[in-house]
Amino acid sequence: MNRYKPIGIFDSGVGGLTVVREVLNLLPEEDIVYLGDTARVPYGIRSPETVTRYAIENTEFLLSLGIKALVVACNTVSAIGLEELQKRVDIPVLGVLKPGARAAAARTRNRRVGVIGTETTILSSSYQRAINEIDPEIKVYGLACPLFVPLVEEGWTDGEVVKAIVSRYLEGLRHRDIDTLVLGCTHYPLLKGPIAEVCGEGVTLIDSAVETAATLKDVLLTEGLLRDDENSLSKRLFFVTDAPERFRRIGERFLGERIDQIEKVVIPYHEHEII
Ligand code: DGL
Repeated sequence: MNRYKPIGIFDSGVGGLTVVREVLNLLPEEDIVYLGDTARVPYGIRSPETVTRYAIENTEFLLSLGIKALVVACNTVSAIGLEELQKRVDIPVLGVLKPGARAAAARTRNRRVGVIGTETTILSSSYQRAINEIDPEIKVYGLACPLFVPLVEEGWTDGEVVKAIVSRYLEGLRHRDIDTLVLGCTHYPLLKGPIAEVCGEGVTLIDSAVETAATLKDVLLTEGLLRDDENSLSKRLFFVTDAPERFRRIGERFLGERIDQIEKVVIPYHEHEII
């Protein structure tokens, strides 16, 4: 396997750019191809069967571009479909859930952890399982916060209204006495400010995107896939399944930099269909 091939990253839409951002922070010399399945977003309210099918189709597309490793940036897919993907491909495949779970288990002192995410992620109890595999004594409290995704996409990430909504949701965890909270959704790192304010100083926030970038670096190193050159011209290619202009507008905020090249693609993918 060639270390100079790109890393493939996909998400249900624009949110996975929070993961791309952290990967580029840590591994700026790597080439990235990103797929946002904007035609079928949101995944977080769909059944496990449907999400898994979408994930397989997205993976097939990225594999056709010759990637050396796959990062599933979507928490919902990581929660329910990761093993299925790992079974099907022979390159390293990692999701955002296990890195987040590991970090939570390592940082909690009172062994009481909250996890917020989409409905499908929370219903799957996958974070709970992953954390309890590390330490069965940790109490894990899941909470779905479905309004956070549209809020962030609308660009509402601070102010009174946002704080009121965050506060209203997190009330569900108030009496759990947690000291650690996992931001178990691609979009939630953009709400870190109000979430931290509502939770107070005693609660450590775990950003799955940051943890995933660190895990990716370890995996690439172990597998001999880490680029070892300067690559000042590292390439970022972005593919979407719908509405590239909306992706650009919202995505630049998530990524923290300009997005120059976006191509629209039809998934399931057949070679002639990039349009
Ligand atoms: N990317 C999804 C996640 O991290 C959030 C958006 C969606 O529901 O598709 O769970």
